[in-house]
Amino acid sequence: MSKTVIKGAVIVTLDDSRPDNFKGDIAVNGTVIEAITEYPQKFENGPFEKVIDGSSYIVMPGLVNTHGHAAMTLLRSYADDLPLKEWLEEKIWPIEGQMQAEDVYWGTKLAIAEMIKSGTTTFTDMYMYMDRVAEAADESGIRAVLSRGLIGIDGGLEGLTESEEFIKNWQGAANGRITVTLGPHAPYTCPPEFLKKVISLAEKTGTSLQIHLSETRGEVDSCLEEHGKTPPELLKELGIFNINTLAAHCVHLSDSDIDILAENGVNVAHNPGSNLKLGSGIAPVARMLDKGINVGIGTDGASSNNNLDMIEEMRLTALLSKGIEMNPTLLDAKTALKMSTITGAKALGIANTGILKEGYKADLIALRTDRPHLVPMHDPIANIVYSSAGADIDLVMVDGDILLENRKLKKMDEQDILNKAAECTNRLIRNGKDN
Ligand code: NI
Repeated sequence: MSKTVIKGAVIVTLDDSRPDNFKGDIAVNGTVIEAITEYPQKFENGPFEKVIDGSSYIVMPGLVNTHGHAAMTLLRSYADDLPLKEWLEEKIWPIEGQMQAEDVYWGTKLAIAEMIKSGTTTFTDMYMYMDRVAEAADESGIRAVLSRGLIGIDGGLEGLTESEEFIKNWQGAANGRITVTLGPHAPYTCPPEFLKKVISLAEKTGTSLQIHLSETRGEVDSCLEEHGKTPPELLKELGIFNINTLAAHCVHLSDSDIDILAENGVNVAHNPGSNLKLGSGIAPVARMLDKGINVGIGTDGASSNNNLDMIEEMRLTALLSKGIEMNPTLLDAKTALKMSTITGAKALGIANTGILKEGYKADLIALRTDRPHLVPMHDPIANIVYSSAGADIDLVMVDGDILLENRKLKKMDEQDILNKAAECTNRLIRNGKDN
């Protein structure tokens, strides 16, 4: 087993049994964290394959992106400043209809490169050609929770068959780095009869599911008109929440909707950047947290964000709650950081990640602190959340494997990815215009 030690770093474990931060060593043995020492106690129990100088680092748990559509990187800045319905129906869906497996593969590679370079160690995806997405995740070394997006308006049975195959082929693959879930897109694209089929498949295969929920005011209004219920009320009645569910967005919730999510243990993915950009609104995050809901943070696709920088999203999460509630004490920096790490991991059902602790998976990142915007450092957690950016991430490890070192990707050819992604994008736009 290979052993690596990071020496003399400021360590932020987010483990409640430890101080918020301290100077120390962190040793990784194989795929797990072997030891975390607090100075003056040092870790000398080698031999080490690698010794990393951590004197300019904050070492912390890797970031967990709980919602996205990775290959939408190819559509970055393709359609902006439009409302969700128009953006989706007139711009995004037509060009997505042109996408081939190869496009999804390179778009996903581009997304993973961007995510690793901004500190994300686990990402969530709902898209198509998922075998190629899983392949990209496997090769890059990142941890991933993947689902085939399902639309049930015209039957959608093919998607269910593909999902079942996908579960068979990839559940727990890549040394457990890949988790497969079901991905019914949303209540407005998946009628009740279809959602019942999704529930049956989830029960049969023992998988969780992820779904977009109450993203816009219009979605809630038309659900009330059509079904006489809010989207959470409808899903509860259909029995969706008997399956472990991750609901993305949850922007427009009544108090009783929030109670439904809390009582049914529904996990939420909050996507502040995407919700703001699409003018969807601001989710009641502080109220959801008050009710004990696991609220993780996500970027959503790069086409509605337009980047995949989780540090930006955690800052937005903290600032928006303070701003809309006019209360600066709400959603402090530590809460925002926990939402982006341990709470996200819980929302995705990934055990032994999200904090730094002996015996836990070595999914960790190091942020460089010797930069003008991060000096001085009265409070490392405040510096991470309020002052840093994804580009400050210097080192990324998943399952003990180094994926980024000195900002260089170790398992991906960055230039090749940029070239291939550009080729795919050019072809897509050309084909889109021909049709
Ligand atoms: Ni989405």
